[in-house]
Formats: sequence, C-alpha cells, structure tokens
Amino acid sequence: MSLHDNIESILVSEKEIAEIAERLGKQITEDYKGVERPILLGLLKGCVPFMSDLQKHIDLPIEIEYMDVSSYHGSITSSGDVKIRKDMNTSVSGRDILIAEDIVDTGKTLDTIVKLLTHRGAKSVEVVTLLDKPAGRVIPFTPKYIGVTIPKAFVVGYGLDYDELYRNIPYVGILKPEIYKK
Ligand code: PRP
Repeated sequence: MSLHDNIESILVSEKEIAEIAERLGKQITEDYKGVERPILLGLLKGCVPFMSDLQKHIDLPIEIEYMDVSSYHGSITSSGDVKIRKDMNTSVSGRDILIAEDIVDTGKTLDTIVKLLTHRGAKSVEVVTLLDKPAGRVIPFTPKYIGVTIPKAFVVGYGLDYDELYRNIPYVGILKPEIYKK
C-alpha cells in the first residue's frame, strides 16, 4: 500500500511545480529590486515545500519568517476560525511583507493575516501562492502572484494535507473521495 494509491489523479506535476517556482521567483526578484530587506513570510505548515523551492529563485537579500496558522483543523472544510499557533519573531512595522502560501481557497486565512499585518503597520503586504482556487472563495481575495489556478477539488500533496497526511508527496493531486468520506 502506497500513499500514491489514494490519489485519484495528479493535478500539478513535480515538473510544473519546479517551473512555477522558477517563474515566480524571477518575477519577485524583478518586482522587489530596490526594496530594503523584504520579509518572505511562510504560513505553516502547508507553505514549506513551495516556499523552500521558491526562495532559491529569489536573488535578493530577503529575511525569512514563519507564522503557524491553521483553520482547517484536520477537516476538508475551513472552520473559518483562523488560529495563530505561533506568531512571527520580528516586528513588521514599516516592512514589506510577501506571504508565501500553498493555496488560497475560501480566502479567510489570507484576508485575516493581511489585515493583521496591515494593522501592525506593515508598509506593504502581498501574497504568493502555488495554488489558487477561486471557486472556493467565501471572502473576495486576489493574490498578487499565482502559480496555477485549480478547479474546486480537494487536493493534497506538496505541503497540503488531509488530516495531517499527504504533505510529503512531491506533486499536487486530487484525493480519492472515499478516503475522506470514510
Ligand atoms: C491551509 C493553507 C492556507 C489555508 C487556505 O492551511 O495552507 O493557509 O488553508 O485556505 P483558506 O483560503 O480557505 O483560508 P490549514 O489551515 O489547512 O493549515 P496547514 O497549513 O497547517 O495545513
């Protein structure tokens, strides 16, 4: 029994992900030239594989920070209750922040965190996401940098989990519905 047996189909392949990380990293490098010490802020845990690949293609002096934020709590639908389990370690006042995410779905997580960082005095707050699922939006939210737009399906892999599993598979795939309907 392999983890891959529970995947119905591959939605974004390893090769496509590598191309996205390179394309967005180069674009961010261009856009943030001249910005003093931008902060690349990863929202744990889902951001880890994408942020790790993306940052290698950002050829600028950036600081790396993390916040541990969760709203799904092991379920396939957002609770809407965005919990900060661990805050970042530095002040954002007057700083340019680029949030790195694996997915924007309902928009609630990013809406909450962007508002929070703005309230804390950040100079700018933008979002780079590997996946954008506009059909899932409950709150209007438009990320500045999007890897790929995906349809309304429950996806796992490359950082995305179902009940804390599947984060370690190297591509993004659609989970077989019988797995979460058990
Ligand atoms: C996932 C993902 C985003 C958020 C997006 O995190 O990493 O942070 O959901 O969904 P939304 O647009 O509907 O708010 P999750 O809460 O599952 O925590 P995790 O990163 O630890 O898996």
